[in-house]
Amino acid sequence: GGRQRGPGAAMGEEEVARQELGSLRGIPLYQCFVQGWPQVEAFRARPDDLLVATYPKSGTTWLSEILDLIYHDGDVEKCRRDAIFNRVPFLEMKAPKMPSGVELLEKTPSPRLVKTHLPVHLLPASFQDNGCKVIYMARNPKDVVISYYYFYQMAKMHPDPGTLGEFLETFLAGKVAYGSWYEHVQGWWEKKQEKQLLYLFYEDMKKDPWQEVQKILRFLGKEMEEEVVARILHHTSFQEMKKNPAANYETIPRALMDHSLSPFLRKGISGDWKNHFTVAQNERFDQHYREHMVGSDLRFQMEV
Ligand code: A3P
Repeated sequence: GGRQRGPGAAMGEEEVARQELGSLRGIPLYQCFVQGWPQVEAFRARPDDLLVATYPKSGTTWLSEILDLIYHDGDVEKCRRDAIFNRVPFLEMKAPKMPSGVELLEKTPSPRLVKTHLPVHLLPASFQDNGCKVIYMARNPKDVVISYYYFYQMAKMHPDPGTLGEFLETFLAGKVAYGSWYEHVQGWWEKKQEKQLLYLFYEDMKKDPWQEVQKILRFLGKEMEEEVVARILHHTSFQEMKKNPAANYETIPRALMDHSLSPFLRKGISGDWKNHFTVAQNERFDQHYREHMVGSDLRFQMEV
């Protein structure tokens, strides 16, 4: 434990010491975020805010980039104006020596795009009261856990993930940041009826991004030339985003995220779990998944 001086120290940055997660109403969460919670709970949404909600590692950044481009009619240059985490502020984010998500949002002109990973029952009431639209994106949990495992390694605000086998158990027990994946995806799925909510899947976006963007446009009541849609799809492809400093998180201090351990835009595919799970881990996961999805009509494409 304690503070260590890593490679970032040479650049005048001190490495962030890994910390155990705190708890927000029983949901495991970064201690800083827990401390900042009163400000988040009191957040004042605006009626034209669009909320981008996801469980971590489910395609948040991808969806955010697509939405910012839609909001700017496909103007690629305008969408390089700032890093994605400033263009689409992260509602519950709180870290030392940085403006919080709420502070960033207060300075953001409308119409705002707002990112959150909160489970639906912790969403500040103001979004509901103002009738804000929500786009939720979910991803196959086997790919989520692999992506999260690499993210835990590169993003230093997380506790040490241990081996993949250990991390799988932590994930299945709901003891990772933001808690149970099942409760998250199911909680938001159940709100589909009462909220203005579009529920998307990472796997569909990979398979047919054109169709998914059409769904988004319909949901937003926006018309767009085919040529503009094509430009948006090109700019938001994995390869383009990976080399775009405004989208790939490389401008985050290295003390917080070390891309040499694993890049933020890592692989961007469906089914990478097949390269990681042992047969036994896969059986264990399937069993757990079946038990915890019983009674839900929510279906994931595990074999893509
Ligand atoms: P992998 O680790 O599987 O590569 P989030 O933005 O919610 O943190 O999700 C990160 C995951 O989305 C990472 O998954 C990342 O590579 C993937 N991703 C980001 N941009 C993408 C894109 N344009 N196309 C496909 N996947 C993308």
